[in-house]
Amino acid sequence: MTLEELNESCKKCDKCRLRKGATQVVPGAGSEHAEIMFIGEGPGETEDKQGLPFVGAAGRFLNELLKSINLNREDVYIANMVKCRPPGNRDPQEDEIQACKGWLNQQIKVIQPKIFVPLGRFAMYKFLKGTSISKEHGKIYSRSGKVYFVMYHPAVALYNGAMRPILLEDIKKLRLFLDGKLDAQSLNDTVSKIISEKETLKKEQNKNQGNKDSSQFKMTI
Ligand code: URA
Repeated sequence: MTLEELNESCKKCDKCRLRKGATQVVPGAGSEHAEIMFIGEGPGETEDKQGLPFVGAAGRFLNELLKSINLNREDVYIANMVKCRPPGNRDPQEDEIQACKGWLNQQIKVIQPKIFVPLGRFAMYKFLKGTSISKEHGKIYSRSGKVYFVMYHPAVALYNGAMRPILLEDIKKLRLFLDGKLDAQSLNDTVSKIISEKETLKKEQNKNQGNKDSSQFKMTI
């Protein structure tokens, strides 16, 4: 399946309550061959109107962040945890994230990014559980050939100007990493422990299903 076909099916999704309040589904935007995937929370008002992710005020700051390290939107893929706007821009609820996660997982399968940049805690929880964004922002982790670089959500800088330099400083580490000047830490401690538990569970499930690949670790993304 191509990314376009996938996103066309996504646009027809009606799996959760969010679709009713939204103007349209906003699957994502960017290159099908992107090595970096940015993942936000969910569309806001402008995104809901335009059908594109991060095109409002938070998106303008995201563009600035990308530009500050010589990237532009066409170089990366930008997606969201939920593809429909939560009413009044409230946080997405767990059942909505669960209902929507198949779309993001399929986008990941098609695009196969090497680097994931979760923006904000909701996206961070997809990869790193049992930790906090204030602890993890600006850190680069690697695990099983994938890299995870956690950032605060760009919208935080709109409410609190003091966060702007923090995001601008954090994203410089992504540039250093891309230039081979910074190593990613192997995913460890609490985060690793929690993921290992998921790994073990997954392996058990695979074993029970007689899956020959069960010895190979696969992150449950
Ligand atoms: N905030 C998000 O998390 N995603 C968008 O697409 C826009 C704002």
